[in-house]
Order: sequence, then structure tokens, then C-alpha cells
Amino acid sequence: MRMGLEGKVALVTGAARDVGRDIALALASEGAAVAVNYNSSAEAAQAVVNEIKSTGGRAIACKADIANLGAVKQMVDRIATELGGLNILVNNAGLVIRKRFAETTPDEWRRQIDTCLYGTIHCCHAAGPLLEAGKNGRVISLMGDSSRVGESGLSIGAAARAGVIALMKSLAREMGRSGTTANAVSLGLVETAHDRSWVEANRDKLVKFYPLRRLGQPSDVAPMVTLLASEHGSWITGQVISISGGFSMQ
Ligand SMILES: NC(=O)c1ccc[n+]([C@@H]2O[C@H](COP(=O)([O-])OP(=O)(O)OC[C@H]3O[C@@H](n4cnc5c(N)ncnc54)[C@H](OP(=O)(O)O)[C@@H]3O)[C@@H](O)[C@H]2O)c1
Repeated sequence: MRMGLEGKVALVTGAARDVGRDIALALASEGAAVAVNYNSSAEAAQAVVNEIKSTGGRAIACKADIANLGAVKQMVDRIATELGGLNILVNNAGLVIRKRFAETTPDEWRRQIDTCLYGTIHCCHAAGPLLEAGKNGRVISLMGDSSRVGESGLSIGAAARAGVIALMKSLAREMGRSGTTANAVSLGLVETAHDRSWVEANRDKLVKFYPLRRLGQPSDVAPMVTLLASEHGSWITGQVISISGGFSMQ
């Protein structure tokens, strides 16, 4: 099924690598112009842009720390100027520190909430007027299943993302009149480059929690995000959709 994103402009936060990279490439392959946001991974972000351009697509790399509202506003202004608007916001960037709650420091919980909750609020606030002005805007926020069912060692990240679920549902109600949808995509454990050694050491134990007996890959996530971003997702809003191999069932 073609998703038909020609003429659309998408911002994917944290798109230099892993899940965000796959989402950026998938949206571009459907015809969207893509703003590839990064914070520290400048080279990797440029590589994603180059890959999109090499297949005839449009893309720019945009540095912004999403915890900084001023930087987010500047990024969104630049996207509007250089790519001609903004129709799809994918809140993918995240910072989650796996640690027992009792051992978590105030600095660690602030950094996680600044990125995962405030960062998402900043991006939605800066992008909202453009998404609604273009009609049929799309907001898609990535998170873990821990935000719905809780998980030992992930309490702060889960709490921050539970706030994002409430934000998505509320935006779905506020923005619906312009045809704009807002949804959450909730992940089980998706294998990425940065935690590969931990996953390898624990794989046998981990897969037992998954009815499908495997962990996720970034390529498991991008198709659902692309569908939600497309016209095929135009009657799906305010939902939390789990891509988790059955890790949680609600
Ligand atoms: N992988 C999983 O198993 C899993 C499970 C549940 C939920 N999730 C969530 O799904 C999303 C994608 O997963 P992932 O594993 O691919 O994520 P990730 O590698 O942990 O993080 C994605 C990107 O977030 C960016 N980022 C962090 N802080 C930022 C900030 N202040 N401003 C801008 N960008 C920032 C980083 O960009 P730079 O590299 O440029 O600094 C990083 O590349 C994340 O939100 C993650 O929390 C992932």
C-alpha cells in the first residue's frame, strides 16, 4: 500500500540513528520532505540526509536540543522557511536511564523529564500552529510500553511518557477540528546499536517476555508511524498503539 506523503513535510526528532533514522527514511521513501533533528549526532544526521537526497528526496539536518524551547522554535522556523511548512511531527527523541528509582539522582530525573516530557511539549507547541494551518496535521509520539504498564528500573522515563500519552489524547481533542491527529506509539524492546552488548548478554531471558519470542527491530516500527502519518491514518486519533511483539496487551 502506498502511503502517499508527496508534498508533506515531516520533522523527526532524534532521527540520526536507530528507530528515528528508520522512520525518517521511511517517510522520505513515501515522498515526504524530512527535517532530520539531532542533538549530538551531527555526522550521522548528515548521513541520513545524504541517503534521502541520493534517492531524489528532500531533507535537511537540524540541530536542536529539544529540552530548549528557544532552540526548538528556531528549528521549526527554519523548517518552515527551507521546506515550506510542517505537516508531520514525529516525537522520537528520548533519554531514558535504566536505574532503580531509589538510586536515581535529581539530575538524572530532571534530564529525562526535560527531554521526554518537556521536549515533546516544546515540539508540539512550536509545531502546532503549522500543523493546524496546513490541515490534516499529524503528531506521533514514541515511547515504551513501560509508560502504560510500568517497569522496574524505568520509573522516571515511564512517568515522563505517561505525561506524553495524556498530552497526545488532549491534543487529539483540541486539534481534531483541523483534521489533525495525535497518537502515541508504544514500543517493546527494540534492538539498537547503543545497547547491543546488554541485549546480547540478556537475550535468552528477555525474549521469554515476548509471545512472538523475538525482540523488535527499528524496521518493525517505521511502517506503523508511516501509516499514522498518511491519509490512511486520518480516522485514528488519541490512541496508544503498542508495537511490542505482545509484551503488553491492553
Ligand atoms: N529502543 C527501544 O528498545 C525503545 C523501547 C521503548 C521506547 N523507546 C523510545 O523510542 C524512541 C526511539 O528509540 P531509540 O532506541 O532509537 O532511541 P535513542 O537511541 O535512545 O534516542 C534517539 C535519539 O534521541 C536523541 N536525543 C536525546 N536527547 C535529545 C535532546 N535533548 N534533543 C534532541 N535529541 C535528543 C538522540 O540524538 P543525538 O544522538 O543526536 O544526541 C538520539 O539519537 C525513544 O524515544 C526511546 O525512548 C525505545
